[in-house]
Amino acid sequence: MYKSIIRPLFFLFDPEKVHHFTFLLIKYISKIPGVTSIFKKLYVINDKKLERNLFGLTFKNPVGLAAGFDKNAVLYNELANFGFGFIEIGTVTPTAQKGNPKKRVFRLKADNGLINRMGFNNNGVKEVVKQLKKNKGNVLIGGNIGKNTATMPDGYTEDYVACFSKLHPYVDYFVLNVSCPNVSSHAKLNDKDYLFELISEVQKVNTTFSEQKPILLKIAPDLNKLQLDEIIELVAETKIDGVIASNTSINKKGLIASEDKLTKIGHGGLSGKPIKDRSTAIINYLAQKSNKAFPIIGVGGIHSAEDALEKLNAGADLVQIYTGFIYEGPSLIKKINKAILEQE
Ligand code: FNR
Repeated sequence: MYKSIIRPLFFLFDPEKVHHFTFLLIKYISKIPGVTSIFKKLYVINDKKLERNLFGLTFKNPVGLAAGFDKNAVLYNELANFGFGFIEIGTVTPTAQKGNPKKRVFRLKADNGLINRMGFNNNGVKEVVKQLKKNKGNVLIGGNIGKNTATMPDGYTEDYVACFSKLHPYVDYFVLNVSCPNVSSHAKLNDKDYLFELISEVQKVNTTFSEQKPILLKIAPDLNKLQLDEIIELVAETKIDGVIASNTSINKKGLIASEDKLTKIGHGGLSGKPIKDRSTAIINYLAQKSNKAFPIIGVGGIHSAEDALEKLNAGADLVQIYTGFIYEGPSLIKKINKAILEQE
């Protein structure tokens, strides 16, 4: 029903407008008595064999919603009814920001992909904390954090630390997003020495809390082998809890979409099917080269159960979806979990 009726209808309209409309729709439909139990019956698989224990957390199943979908933590409980084992909110920045001018999300239908240059539009950490306090969750929540676009390089660490401290009591794990192609001056966020400093500072703040939260690093699919080796060293040196591979890609080679279309769209990060193999290759490289020394969350182009199994077989411990959720609909989560059960 999703692919034959809902998706064709949604795809007639601007992607960002559809996103906001869908949010409202899910929010209000979920308030109708009985609807959440129908969703749960349709989409949730409860099976102990799907549970994963990582970083001291128990994930009900290994399929999560990637960052950027519920940026302001307004819909995670309702989204959990579609069967996700965890939901990553954000990217959250210290102060609210509008992001880049609209239009800033584009569908590449023939490629089963998206290009976006949202630019960290979010309501700021204070508002996000309000939401998290208001709605006690029954799903694991990841807090994906970043810097404000206007922040100068000497203030980056302060931005991450501000978000980390404020969100700490309300999320289960953290993600330092250092790989968004849509925020300015991110070159520093590719520098190993700086990343060491950033991770160390955040870890220092982590020790000031009675309970320490796991911290992961989210990387780009465009890193070369030398840069990936640096990530492996960085994880070993800082003992950060894991890596999320990957964010969107700046590489637009090999797309079905015409050059003309891509020129009209302009800059932005590519997601969905076209980045599947790139992100799997990165997971594979990190897992092999490090001898599986740390947990990896695999994300990028998962549009089917087979795609998810490919990521897990390449060395991912958990997977996340974003673009596949839009193209394939909520049944994708159940399909993946079923396939994982069948494989075990
Ligand atoms: C994203 N993604 C993202 N990632 C992140 O760490 N912080 C963010 O704010 C966002 N925002 C965002 C917006 C939109 C419109 C898209 C399509 C994606 C990246 C996302 O979490 C994921 O890493 C990539 O999209 C690759 O996965 P998929 O989409 O191919 O499953």
